[in-house]
Amino acid sequence: MQSVIPDYLTEVLADVESDVSGEPAGYIPELAAADPDRLGAVFATLDGKIYGAGDVDTEFTIQSISKPFTYALALADRGFGPVLAKVGVEPSGEAFNQISLERESGRPLNPMINAGAITAHSLVGSQELDPAGRAERVVDGLSAFAGRRLSIDDAVCASEMEHAHRNLAIAHMLRSYHILTEDPRGVVDGYIRQCSVLVTVRDLAMMAATLANRGVNPVSGDRVIGERVVRQVLSVMATCGMYDSAGDWATQVGIPAKSGVAGGLIGALPGQIGIATLSPRLDAHGNSVRGVSLFERFSSDMGLHVM
Ligand code: DON
Repeated sequence: MQSVIPDYLTEVLADVESDVSGEPAGYIPELAAADPDRLGAVFATLDGKIYGAGDVDTEFTIQSISKPFTYALALADRGFGPVLAKVGVEPSGEAFNQISLERESGRPLNPMINAGAITAHSLVGSQELDPAGRAERVVDGLSAFAGRRLSIDDAVCASEMEHAHRNLAIAHMLRSYHILTEDPRGVVDGYIRQCSVLVTVRDLAMMAATLANRGVNPVSGDRVIGERVVRQVLSVMATCGMYDSAGDWATQVGIPAKSGVAGGLIGALPGQIGIATLSPRLDAHGNSVRGVSLFERFSSDMGLHVM
């Protein structure tokens, strides 16, 4: 880690530290058991430098932050036409776990909400892949974005699977519309594996920086995904990444972003920087309270708002 920007990061973390409002996600029992005071932030620049402060190397589950990356894999593996036929790109204005399907077609409104993400998960890899092979392709793909081998937290995965009634219900709806064409349980199982991938704030910043760097991991130099796919992914992050607070986020922060219920948050500023934060207490939209404050601060201090 370099040593100048961390002073700034340490100062900003100290400024938000006393805010203990919000609650860690309660509907996944293993997540509720995590230390709610964790706090960390990392900047990853496109020349491969990493600056961080706080809990930057603590592992936690990626949860919904996996969604833009899995959407990218689906687009790369199946092409735009087949993916867009099954998942739209319009903000839902609803919570992440609402059904939010188009009325006639049953197409989920976008790939950032659970309905769209479950569908995008089903579209990763070739049509012949079984659920286990697909989950493997997802872990491999997320690992390429991070630039290191990632693994799954089996305890969080089992804990979520036991309480997955809402996602199972959504998947059964998708199956009834033929948006899913296979056993919904296998798809939800794979999607929950995807959400249970362990990452650190450092990993997330690198994943965000790979998007900001138009698909090339800034440290490994590997092209992980094509530029056209990255444009699509950043666009849906900008419009749908923060769910039903996407408008507030766009006006206050103005960076394509994605949150997860374990408390992670990423922002990817095209051509500039990848940013990630961790703080497990969430607001009513399922976004990290202190994560949002940190991003507001970064955006205003450094003029990062893209509009
Ligand atoms: O499907 C779920 O409910 C979780 N595995 C992920 C939800 C999530 O992270 C929402 N984001 N803030």
